[in-house]
Amino acid sequence: MKKHILVVPGDGIGAEVTTIGKQVLEAIAQKFGHEFTYDEALIGHVAIEATGSPLPDETLTKMRAADAILFGAVGHPKYDNDPTAKVRPEQGLLQMRKELGLYANLRPIKLFDELLDASSIKPEILRGADILFFRELTGDVYFGKRERLDEGNTAYDTMIYSKYEVERIVRKAFEAARTRNKRLCSVDKANVLESSRLWREVVQAIAPEYADVQVEHQFIDAAAMLLIKDPKRFDVVVTGNLFGDILTDEASQIAGSMGMLASASVGDNTGVYEPIHGSAHDITGKGVANPLASVLSVALMLDISFGLKAEAEAVVSAVDAVLKAGYRTRDIASPTTQPEYVLGTDAMGQQILQLLQA
Ligand code: IPM
Ligand code: MG
Repeated sequence: MKKHILVVPGDGIGAEVTTIGKQVLEAIAQKFGHEFTYDEALIGHVAIEATGSPLPDETLTKMRAADAILFGAVGHPKYDNDPTAKVRPEQGLLQMRKELGLYANLRPIKLFDELLDASSIKPEILRGADILFFRELTGDVYFGKRERLDEGNTAYDTMIYSKYEVERIVRKAFEAARTRNKRLCSVDKANVLESSRLWREVVQAIAPEYADVQVEHQFIDAAAMLLIKDPKRFDVVVTGNLFGDILTDEASQIAGSMGMLASASVGDNTGVYEPIHGSAHDITGKGVANPLASVLSVALMLDISFGLKAEAEAVVSAVDAVLKAGYRTRDIASPTTQPEYVLGTDAMGQQILQLLQA
């Protein structure tokens, strides 16, 4: 199979982890006889520094031409405490999502058994947890009208959804539930918000078409509580952009570390595959970032964008085997991990590559 992949490292540890992700792609190409070609492009803070724009036209053009995008992270601490900044790295990410029509963000939360003790949640609560989140990604308060009024002393953001936006993500979630444990939980705040009442109406209207899937509705506050109390009760979860953003960071603790979680953003065109973690400037350049979320993002790309199931499985198995062998990056090490088993970014990448090249 011939595929063209655009690598967009972005900011902070993005470059370190996508370097490993790309090596894994190449190892898979060699092993299975595929021909992958690559290009690179700028986004976020590095793009602002180089061009003045967080999403330069050149990047967008390359994105549209690619078969899939391996994405790192965006963000820089200098903007976080400067609410007055007009141009921000995150604008590049949001604009990319909109321009590429990436309305569905899939965030699988699966705990590797070996990492049971890396989580701060009790092992007996966690064991067997396996959740697939569908976070809507191109609507909601992220893209609604926002404004300052009253000489800057008042501000508002609009939480807004249209029926078709809810329908298309909810359908994707139902389809996925069918291939899993046939349970779908829709999360909203329909006891307060009108946009959530529309959301719930749409889910209720579609549900009869998927009579084999058991549907429940939870309010966001209750869902946040249940996720920690009893993660196993969830199979597929579908929710809006903001609720999904918050809930999936929380859910990352079920998988032991943010450093383990991959995500796929898909719509009708090119898919984007990226860790759910951010740019992590506190550890940038130290060589300690966990590359496994980027490696697992590659597995999602192979599976979802290219339909290469065996190849995707080979990547996930390699991650599993390396964890079984006892290797850890700092973020997933436990107090009992022997120091020689705590690896940096490149050494962890090497372990994965060795298995794929065997
Ligand atoms: C995410 C991130 C982004 C979001 C930020 C960086 C804008 O937190 O992908 O979850 O809020 O969507
Ligand atoms: Mg987030």
